[in-house]
Formats: sequence, structure tokens, C-alpha cells
Amino acid sequence: MRVTGWAPVASPGLLMLRGPHRKGNAVAAATSRSPQYVAPPWRPSSILDEWVQREVRPISLRQLTFFGRTLTQDRLIQGANYARLELPTRIAHRLRNMQTLPYSALKNRHIAHVYELYYTAFERFRKVPEVRTLEDNDKYCEVLVQCLQEHLSVIPSLGMGVLEIQDSVSSEECDRFMTTLLRSRISRRVIAEQHLALTETFHSAWHFPNAKKSAMAPEDDFVGEIFLKCSAKEIIETCAATATELMSKAYGPVAIPRVAIKGHLDTTFPYIPSHIEYIIGELLRNSMQGVIEQRQSSSPKPIEVLICEAAQSVIIRVSDQGGGIDRAILPYLWSFAKGPRRNMRLQNLEQVPKLAGTMQELRWADSTGPDRSHSPGSGPSSGEKSGSSLTALSSRPPDLRLGMGLPMSKIYAEYWAGSLEVHSLEGYGVDAFLQISKLGNRNEVLSTRATMDA
Ligand code: COI
Repeated sequence: MRVTGWAPVASPGLLMLRGPHRKGNAVAAATSRSPQYVAPPWRPSSILDEWVQREVRPISLRQLTFFGRTLTQDRLIQGANYARLELPTRIAHRLRNMQTLPYSALKNRHIAHVYELYYTAFERFRKVPEVRTLEDNDKYCEVLVQCLQEHLSVIPSLGMGVLEIQDSVSSEECDRFMTTLLRSRISRRVIAEQHLALTETFHSAWHFPNAKKSAMAPEDDFVGEIFLKCSAKEIIETCAATATELMSKAYGPVAIPRVAIKGHLDTTFPYIPSHIEYIIGELLRNSMQGVIEQRQSSSPKPIEVLICEAAQSVIIRVSDQGGGIDRAILPYLWSFAKGPRRNMRLQNLEQVPKLAGTMQELRWADSTGPDRSHSPGSGPSSGEKSGSSLTALSSRPPDLRLGMGLPMSKIYAEYWAGSLEVHSLEGYGVDAFLQISKLGNRNEVLSTRATMDA
């Protein structure tokens, strides 16, 4: 993970910081002294500024579904051009956020690594010419695949970076920064992966002898990455099996609590499977760990999962009897920067770089389908699509705890306008409530506060 040979002076991204308002070491010294540093106004002439001026165009699951359902060559190309303009716009906004960090935080090696990745991707994306033909689209898809692959190290790098910059950035700022960056990253990966998936669909329909002009029949259950009939029960069962396997690897021959599912068992909803699998996988893993670590019984109390389907939403409650959450940890449950993660700092920073360099850790940290071999015309089957994040969960080092699972799950839940809450019943157990917007008609949620726009 160490960015070998990285030199701030030579870095094109960081060179951007040396406008007329930020000359040389004097500014660097001043900014590293002052955690309250506020970025000076930016000159409107810079290319980045031009892109930061652009507003993002939010998407909803429903829009993506309608768009992808009636896929024609024109629509595919229209989708490519949406991604072509939208991705650099969204990255530009995040680069600007990063530039407002104190210099000492921005030059932290992990944060600088992410900054460089984003800057490089911004430059690459903004230079893609208008997509007019299928050949242009195939070339564009190659750029997307390469960037998706290169960005696999973003989450572990941010996770480590945020622990190291706390001398110059408050933990509240760190959390806001992380939430904004991670939400935006999910959004960009959704846009890129949806376009790649539609391109695959289009190519396979085109090469199929009886291909029609509309590449996808309306009754198909997948529209790109979106699975129209995610079954709550099936997802919970599959995640439970994966989490059980993970527990037996981590704890050896102990009694692992079973998962009992009740409520509205027929509930289905449109969603991106890897997103919901990440959340449910984390909740079940936490609950199982809580119960196992109590080690009170050879037949542990089951984890109860209730599915409740309402008019607009699906609520999934995960209840365990694992003794509840330690009072000392509770206030920091959703923090990337504060609390136990901070205490684990040394241990983690020794442990993580080794792990983060392995594909396992990267796959785990990145649940949005990182290990797909996306190439136009060679897409994964539907089964593989819905199993992607489970591969991530099961390939994760079983005893690895970065403390990022819950805050990450909340970001995933909130991204599609849902919510995640955890209630600890001290000495008894935990109830986690996941709410999902069932109709898919809510726009992606990108901002963490009014001033930090998408
Ligand atoms: C990321 O994964 O960090 C991204 O920015 C995605 C983008 C390269 C498509």
C-alpha cells in the first residue's frame, strides 16, 4: 500500500494546490500548523474549478431500471455519455473536498494515495471524447474497468489515513469527510458498473441469434446490476450461511447461533444485491460475534431476523442475545475515527497494510463488485451477480476487525434513502433496524450536510 516514489512536488494533483494563493512551503507550513485552515478562493480558470461548478445529476433505482429496460444502441450510447460527464464531475467535487483538508492531512501517505488516484481518474475521465458509436463505447468501457480496478485500494487507504490524520483534523470532520467520500464513491461505482453491465447485456443480446432491437425483455429480473426481485428471506439465508462459515474459520469449533427468520417471508424489492448483502452480512456477523464471545452456552440463543413489509419500505430487524454493546463503544459505533478504532490504531496499522495489500482484504473492503472481470460482451451470470458481495464477505480474513463494517453499512443503507439504527439493550442484546425504500423511487443520497454538496 505504500506509494513508492510518491513525491508531493512532482505530483500533478498536488501541484494544483500551488496556485497563486498557495505558494511554496510558507503555505504548507501555515496550513500544517492550523487545523482550522480554510481553503482560499479558487481561481475560476482552473479545469478542476470548471468541473466543480457543474451540478451532479442524481439517479434513482427506478430511473436506472426504466432506462435499462428498454435498452437500444442509442440508449446505451446516451448512458455512456451520462457516465462520461457525471463521473469526472463527481470526482471533481471530492477532489475539492480533499483540497480543503489541512496540508498535513492531505500529505498523509494514505490520503495522498487516494488523492492521486482520484486526480488521475479525473484527468482520464474528463479527456474521454464524446461516445458516438459502439466502438467508442467499448473503448470507454475499458477505461471504466481499469479505473474500477485501480480504485480497489481506496477504502483501506481511507480507513488507515483517517486514523493517522487526527492530529490535524477533528474526529467529527474526519467522519464527515469519510461519509462524503464513501457515499460518493458508491455512487460512482454504481454509475460505472451499471453502464458496464448494460453494455454486457447489450452485447450478449446482440450476439444472440434471435436478438431483438430491444436488448432486454421487460420480464427479466436483472436490469444491469439491479435485481428487481431481491428476496429478503433469500438474502438473509445466504448471508447467514456465509457469516456462519466465517465464524467457524475465526473461532474454530464453537457453537454458532443459528439464524431464525420470521415475518413477511415473501417480501421482494428492487435493489443492488451487493449493497444489501454487505449490510445484512455485517449485521449478522456482528450479532454472531456478540453471541459467540459471551460463550455462555453450548446451544446459543438464535439470532432472530424479522422481515416487515410496509407500503413504502421494507424493515429488517436483526435481534441477538449477545449481551449488548459495551457502553464505552456505544457513542462511537458509527465513527470511522473515534473510540475503539482509535485505540486499535497501532495494532491495526501494523496489521492492515499487510492485509490491505492482499486481494482478499481489498475484496472485502469493497463490496460493490470489485472482482468482476468486466469486459464488454463477457458478463457474469445472474447468479454470480447476486453472489458478488458474499464472495467478499467469505474471502475476508476471518479475524480482521477494522471497525468500519457498521459505519460502512449505514452509508450503504442511507445511499438509497434507507436507514440503519442500532439499539443496545445493556446486558441482554442488540436490535438492529434496517429500513429500505421499497419502491426504488428515491434519489441516491449524496450529501452529508447542506454545504457539502454532491
Ligand atoms: C472509486 O472506486 O473510487 C471510483 O471513483 C469509481 C470510479 C473509478 C468509477
